[in-house]
Amino acid sequence: MNYQRFLEEAIDQVHAERRYRVFADLERIVGKFPRAIWRANGKAEEITVWCSNDYLGMGQHPDVVAAMQQAAGNMGTGAGGTRNISGNNHPLVELEHELADLHGKEAGLVFTSGFVSNEAAISTIGRLLPNCLILSDELNHASMIEGVRRSGAEKKVFRHNDVAHLESLLQAAGRERAKLIVFESVYSMDGDIAPIAEIADLAEKYNAMTYIDEVHAVGMYGGRGGGITEREGLAHRIDIIEGTLAKAFGTLGGYITGTRSVIDAVRSYAPGFIFTTALPPSIAAAATASIRHLKTSQAERDAQQRQATHTKQVLADAGLPVMESATHIVPILVGDPELCKMASDRLLGVHGIYIQPINYPTVPRGTERLRVTPTPFHSDALIAELKAALVETWNALGIPYRTEGHTEVPKSERIVSLLVPQSGG
Ligand SMILES: Cc1ncc(COP(=O)(O)O)c(C=O)c1O
Repeated sequence: MNYQRFLEEAIDQVHAERRYRVFADLERIVGKFPRAIWRANGKAEEITVWCSNDYLGMGQHPDVVAAMQQAAGNMGTGAGGTRNISGNNHPLVELEHELADLHGKEAGLVFTSGFVSNEAAISTIGRLLPNCLILSDELNHASMIEGVRRSGAEKKVFRHNDVAHLESLLQAAGRERAKLIVFESVYSMDGDIAPIAEIADLAEKYNAMTYIDEVHAVGMYGGRGGGITEREGLAHRIDIIEGTLAKAFGTLGGYITGTRSVIDAVRSYAPGFIFTTALPPSIAAAATASIRHLKTSQAERDAQQRQATHTKQVLADAGLPVMESATHIVPILVGDPELCKMASDRLLGVHGIYIQPINYPTVPRGTERLRVTPTPFHSDALIAELKAALVETWNALGIPYRTEGHTEVPKSERIVSLLVPQSGG
């Protein structure tokens, strides 16, 4: 057995499919977000990041940084154990109360990442409910797919945001069977939003449980940053609301909120929660500071929306193929994996603008894109710079401009693979 050869062949396959990932070596600079130092080929250069999920720049907010520093100074760095064995630190307990309050739920539970929260919660609930059928949106994130898979429950995938299809699956299962509907509020690659009210109506009609991933919405939508469910007054109609602390809240970790019994069941049965070290107090304290700030401050949300709208307008006016998006996410269609990578390389190398290419399997083939995420800190001047750089890149590489209006890309079916996640990351 030549172990190395097998692994090298696996890597060669990723190269052949043009989905080998290269990470940019970045150093973010407090006070200068979205500027960062990029290191490559022995050089260090200051560039502008246009694809960060630190959507509101909270990762450098003075209150958040101070909370982290203070907690580390007072309580040290690590948690020192699992939640059960000495790691249950007070800032983490406070954070869970803050999250339950954010979503108007009885309880919250924090995990080491959003990925882990989805994998652990969905797999545990699906396993505990007898003969559970999981109904999963076809564009759900890899972490949710992993949760569904590990639950061992039967699954049916419904067409993206297609409530008629979902209803037909619910109807076939009948009211008596245990059913869990898992979906996202904001789909991060297209920037579209789920029909949450209609899904909640169906859940009521067919007596199903609902689980929503608000990872790309918490902090950014709703009067207190409770996500799309808060904005639409629907949080009370969804059983489990999941989110991350790593995007708009600018720190690290994931969570679920729900009734005391749901939270206690996941707390008691999920290996991904039980058998791992708890989040450090410094991170928990920073996350709480960020959530508290965004519960009362609308300024970041307003500025993000303003700059996202402005970016879409400026790029569309230049004829660039900006894809339709109902949210802060601004996808620009390239439609070819090679060109997408070349565009990204050129933007970084020539213009000092970093936008990671998004290729298959994260998005369907033929819809390869640059995914731009304007934040409150992307000024009008930076937006003008971005437009000029994109136009130069589009001309230099011969990438097609938009024909008319916005660019609509059919949300073609994702190809389900056992090895590669369908979306995100
Ligand atoms: C929809 C969705 N859910 C969950 C996650 C995982 O969250 P985290 O980065 O906190 O692990 C991501 C991406 O990172 C995501 O896009």
